[in-house]
Amino acid sequence: MSRTIVLGVTGGIAAYKSAALCSKLTQAGYDVRVVMTENAAKFVTPLTFRTLSRNAVVTSLWEEPEWKPEHVSLANQADLFVTAPATANFIAKFANGIADDALSTFAATFEGKTIIAPAMNPAMWRNPACVENVEKLRKRGVILVGPENGHVACGAPGAGRMSEPDTIFEAVENAFK
Ligand SMILES: Cc1cc2nc3c(=O)[nH]c(=O)nc-3n(C[C@H](O)[C@H](O)[C@H](O)COP(=O)(O)O)c2cc1C
Repeated sequence: MSRTIVLGVTGGIAAYKSAALCSKLTQAGYDVRVVMTENAAKFVTPLTFRTLSRNAVVTSLWEEPEWKPEHVSLANQADLFVTAPATANFIAKFANGIADDALSTFAATFEGKTIIAPAMNPAMWRNPACVENVEKLRKRGVILVGPENGHVACGAPGAGRMSEPDTIFEAVENAFK
């Protein structure tokens, strides 16, 4: 039976790379269920992820295909939760138990192995609030992939660039070992 991965996509410019990750995971035989924030859908459409994952994409808490709320039924099915890119906003919500949209509510419900691939402007990444939030998640066992030094879309130097889809894919494979 194939393993189910919930792929969280948040509203950063690196969301386009998440489409490549989604495709790679699907081609590797994983059952990929994408949950996007409303802001993520401003960068890449749900249609892209629906096509690449061959599954319906969740963007709202309020569209329930079944009697059971989707975040609960997905939390029961998922073997792994990967959020790429993870915005500063999502990291803050996840670290502090805020559940105010489909993705953060899923994050608050799921009890299994979790990977985040942060991506943001280097100043956001250095921000003490973000540093504390990341530390909280790390202490809880959340696996961090990146961010890396290099070119970020806004041109600022420093760490903040999302790891490449291949690197995140490797972390997924390692998580199942
Ligand atoms: C063009 C553009 C690019 C952005 N890129 C990022 C980013 O890479 N990382 C980040 O943390 N926020 C980024 N933001 C800000 C987020 O979109 C914003 O904080 C938003 O509230 C995140 O919502 P979400 O976490 O629910 O997806 C960007 C905003 C804009 C307009």
